[in-house]
Amino acid sequence: RRTRAEAALKDVFADDFWIGAAVNPLTIRTQEELLTYHFNSLTAENEMKFASLQPEEGAYSFDAADQLVAFARRHGMAMRGHTLVWHNQSTGWLFEDGDGNPVDKVTLLGRIKSHIHTVVGRYKDDIYAWDVVNEVIADEGDCLLRRSKWLDIVGPDFIARTFEYAHEADPNALLFYNDYNESHPGKRDKIYTLVKLLLEQGVPIHGIGLQAHWNLFDPSLDDIRAAIEKYASLGLQLQLTELDVSMFRFDDKRTDLADPTEEMLEQQAERYGAIFKLLQEYRGVISSVTFWGAADDYTWLDDFPVRGRKNWPFLFDGQHHPKPAFDRVVELASK
Ligand code: G3I
Repeated sequence: RRTRAEAALKDVFADDFWIGAAVNPLTIRTQEELLTYHFNSLTAENEMKFASLQPEEGAYSFDAADQLVAFARRHGMAMRGHTLVWHNQSTGWLFEDGDGNPVDKVTLLGRIKSHIHTVVGRYKDDIYAWDVVNEVIADEGDCLLRRSKWLDIVGPDFIARTFEYAHEADPNALLFYNDYNESHPGKRDKIYTLVKLLLEQGVPIHGIGLQAHWNLFDPSLDDIRAAIEKYASLGLQLQLTELDVSMFRFDDKRTDLADPTEEMLEQQAERYGAIFKLLQEYRGVISSVTFWGAADDYTWLDDFPVRGRKNWPFLFDGQHHPKPAFDRVVELASK
C-alpha cells in the first residue's frame, strides 16, 4: 500500500540493515499505515516480557503477543523477541515459594527454563532473534553485575544458563545480550567483559543489542563509534534495539514546551543525520536498527524521566508526517 509521498526508510536502508519499530496492541492500530510503509521489523514493547506472558505460574497469557506476531506475519515483517530475563517487569511468584520465601537455585532455573522453552518454542517460526538477557550490567562502581534476585539466588551463572535454554528451545534463533548506556565508556567496557567471558565459556550468544536511548547531545559520536568498534571486535553482530533521540538531556527537567522549537527540530535533524551516516559505515556489522516506537504521538519518553512531559524523539511527528530529521537521514543516506 503505497499512499505516502516520501521514500520508505526500509528501502533507503535495504542494503544496510533492517529498519524496526517497537509496537504494542494500540500502535499497530493507530500507526498501521506508517509502520507497514517504512518498517520491515518489529519488537513487542512490553508484551513478551516475563510478567506479560506468565503472570501466574503456568498460566500463560499470549493474546497480546500473538496479535503483534500476527501483524508482523501479515505484513511480511521480521520480528525480534524482547526479552527473556530482566530484573524489571518480572513477577514476584518467580522468585518465591508458596509461603513467600525465596526459592532455591534449582527451582528458579527450572522455572526460567520452562518459561523459555514455552515462549521461544511457541514463536520459533516467527521470531528470528531474541534479547535473551537484558540490562544485567551495573551502571556504577566496580561491580560487573547489577544486584538482582537472579544474582542472589542463582549467582552469575544465570546468564549462561539462560542463553543455553534459549538455544535449546530454538537452535536457529540469534541470541543477543541487550543493554542501555552501552556507549558510555565505563559501561561499554563492562558489557564487553561480560560477553567476552560468555564466549570463552562457549555460551551460545550471537550478538549485542545497543539500546541507543540517546538525546540531542549525548552520547558523543566518538563514544558511539568506539562502542561499536569494541563490541564488533568480539566478532559478533550488532543491532540497535531501542533507538530514540530525546529532545532533552537526561538531567533537563523542563516541562514548559507544548511543541518542539524550530531550533530543536534542526538539532535533531543534524543529530539523526550524523547517527545514520555513522551506522551506514558499519553495514555488515550492524544488522538491524530498531526505534523504540515509530512516531511522536506515542513514546515511553512522555513518562520518563519526567512523568507527563511530551517528548518528540522520532523521525515522524504526531500526525505521522516526516520531520526534518527524516529528510536529513534520507538525504545523507543516498550520498
Ligand atoms: O500494566 C499497566 C496497565 O495495566 C495500565 O493500564 C498502564 C497505565 O499506565 O500501566 C501499565 O504498565 C505500564 C507498562 O509500561 C505498560 O504500559 C508500566 O506502568 C510502565 O512502567 C511500563 O513501561 C515500560 C517500561 O519498559 C517498563 O520498564 C515502557 O512501556 C517500555 O517502553 C519500556 O521499555 C524498556 C525496554 O523494555 C528495555 N529497555 C528500556 C526501555 C525503556 O524503559
